[in-house]
Amino acid sequence: MSETTHPAAAGVTISPEQAAVEQELVDTVVASFDKTEDPRLKQLMQSLTRHLHNFLREVRLTEDEWNAAIEFLTAAGHITDDKRQEFVLLSDVLGASMQTIAINNQAFKGATEATVFGPFFIADAPEIPIGGDIAGGAHGQPCWVEGTITDTDGNPVPGARIEVWEADEEGFYDVQYTDNRVAGRAHLFADANGKYAFWGLTPTPYPIPHDGPVGKMLESVSRSPVRASHLHFMVTAENLRTLVTHIFVEGDPQIGIGDSVFGVKDSLIKRFEPQPARTPTPDGRELGNQAWARSRFDVVLAPAAV
Ligand code: BEZ
Ligand code: FE
Repeated sequence: MSETTHPAAAGVTISPEQAAVEQELVDTVVASFDKTEDPRLKQLMQSLTRHLHNFLREVRLTEDEWNAAIEFLTAAGHITDDKRQEFVLLSDVLGASMQTIAINNQAFKGATEATVFGPFFIADAPEIPIGGDIAGGAHGQPCWVEGTITDTDGNPVPGARIEVWEADEEGFYDVQYTDNRVAGRAHLFADANGKYAFWGLTPTPYPIPHDGPVGKMLESVSRSPVRASHLHFMVTAENLRTLVTHIFVEGDPQIGIGDSVFGVKDSLIKRFEPQPARTPTPDGRELGNQAWARSRFDVVLAPAAV
């Protein structure tokens, strides 16, 4: 019996009989989806089957490893609830979230780039007026953020809805505390000229939740859970593509070290100008001896159908 290196078993020699057994199983499982009525679902299930089996055969998965994978997924399920989403974290640290975003937000003219959504968005954050404060008691250095919302032809987008959310200087989002606070998040609407402004907090680096199976996995592969400092935005407006993105802090060393969820894009790195204490604020807010910062983020929305 001659032996062969099967393409799906990199570097491992298996007999043609063994390769045929493995391939027959793949073909049988793929065919089991043949009667799926929804063509897209059929494509997804058959392609998933092929890729999954190729992975199993390429790495020659052992039964112990298969058991460990099942235990990992079980632990991810157990720690997941309405506030903790371990499967989103898993997708994020594997780069699957960013790849899906890249596929679905292709570059269009000068439209602002999208990045990872993360698990900490809340749909009903309080509304603030233009120039209002999103902190809601969250600790951190005050930061004035302003900009415009336009389409790719440069037209302002009056009334665009701007959701913003961020971690406090301890590195936690409000939902990670147990007291039901709402802090470090709000929504506001662009004015008649597409302009917006608000007070937020100067972003600081923080780790993604790493006390669960995803954190353990990162540790065992010597990867850090820390994210580059950022401030989240989601901008929605009629007939324009919804933008989910962040701005990152120019000069943050974590950008060079690496963002744990691969979210950084050069176009999203913005200057956060430090303002020494007593520098007059744009809206006359009195900050006493507190230093603050200011940043500008002009958002360009792509048309909805691209
Ligand atoms: C975040 O930026 O909020 C985030 C993104 C991915 C995973 C965890 C947190
Ligand atoms: Fe975040």
